Amino acid sequence: MNSLVLDPKSIPESTSSLARHDWKKLDHSQFEVGLIDGFIEGSDPAKMLDYAMRTQGFALLRHPDFDEEFVAQTRAVAENFFCRSLEHKKQFQLQTAYGIGGYTAVGGEAVGRSFETSAAEESIPVDLVESLALTPNLIQQFQTSDLHRHNPIIQQAEAYKKYMYNALTSLLKLAAQAGDYDEKHLMSGYDLDSDSLGLRFSYYPALAQPPTTGQMRYGAHTDFLGFTLLAPDPLVDGLEVLDITGVWKRINMCLLQEKSTLIINAGDLWPVITEGRWMSAIHRVANPLPQHYGLARLSLVFFTGPRPDTPLEPLRRAKSEPILTAGQFLQKKLGIIGVG
Ligand SMILES: [Fe+2]
Repeated sequence: MNSLVLDPKSIPESTSSLARHDWKKLDHSQFEVGLIDGFIEGSDPAKMLDYAMRTQGFALLRHPDFDEEFVAQTRAVAENFFCRSLEHKKQFQLQTAYGIGGYTAVGGEAVGRSFETSAAEESIPVDLVESLALTPNLIQQFQTSDLHRHNPIIQQAEAYKKYMYNALTSLLKLAAQAGDYDEKHLMSGYDLDSDSLGLRFSYYPALAQPPTTGQMRYGAHTDFLGFTLLAPDPLVDGLEVLDITGVWKRINMCLLQEKSTLIINAGDLWPVITEGRWMSAIHRVANPLPQHYGLARLSLVFFTGPRPDTPLEPLRRAKSEPILTAGQFLQKKLGIIGVG
């Protein structure tokens, strides 16, 4: 991570005050929605979101009430976690489901395998990333564990989850307006304590040597469920999205530095419940140029989806026989990568 980002003064000695944060409701009409190339001043956010989801499954999101300072503080706490020894981080290592199982060291993940459908899967190298993944239940477990509860990352994660959930509920209102979907029906599957929400702090360490052939910081993939709300690294780039012409486009860092900006990816549930109207975003984290190997990168990722028992009914159709629930859909995806 670039040392400019780390400001120890921004890390509270005790984060207990964060639990009292009552995040102001975000007025969804005040969102500003941008495409990969930027924002169009004065554009209608619902129309922009619909266009972005139909053409890329990807959007940039700004709001006057985003709490930039809180996100920066979360970033600093997460960075301090990853800078600790491997032994310390392994205290958070669990043997639970893929992607939602505590700490994963570099070498433990090859996300591109979820995207390959051929025998070539096995040849995809591991990603150059380590991560801490926390669901609401896992945060609660760690909060009651003597070994973990005093670690600032746990209290910060609980507060960050609440902050992002607040942003999500407003975004879902905008999504309902954008697609002319029933707002109540769309939002009924979501709640703050469901394990279909998941925080993931992704840390891409500085590279000590060139990547192997085909190896990336994070390989090409789509996310599995609903919207992913991502607070990207403000200084170190790398996130790329495949556009409809088949070209990888990199997010312009100037867009992220100008104002507090979230990145939104639509996951694989969206094409199902919108009957193909909205698409999921194919994205990856590319390797740095050799002169930037010394720069680490940190992303704060919030995965979302409806509760596992939510029937995947088309949003625009009258009630019909559901084919799968959200939980069955996820199990199917996990089965493909061999961890279901
Ligand atoms: Fe992703």
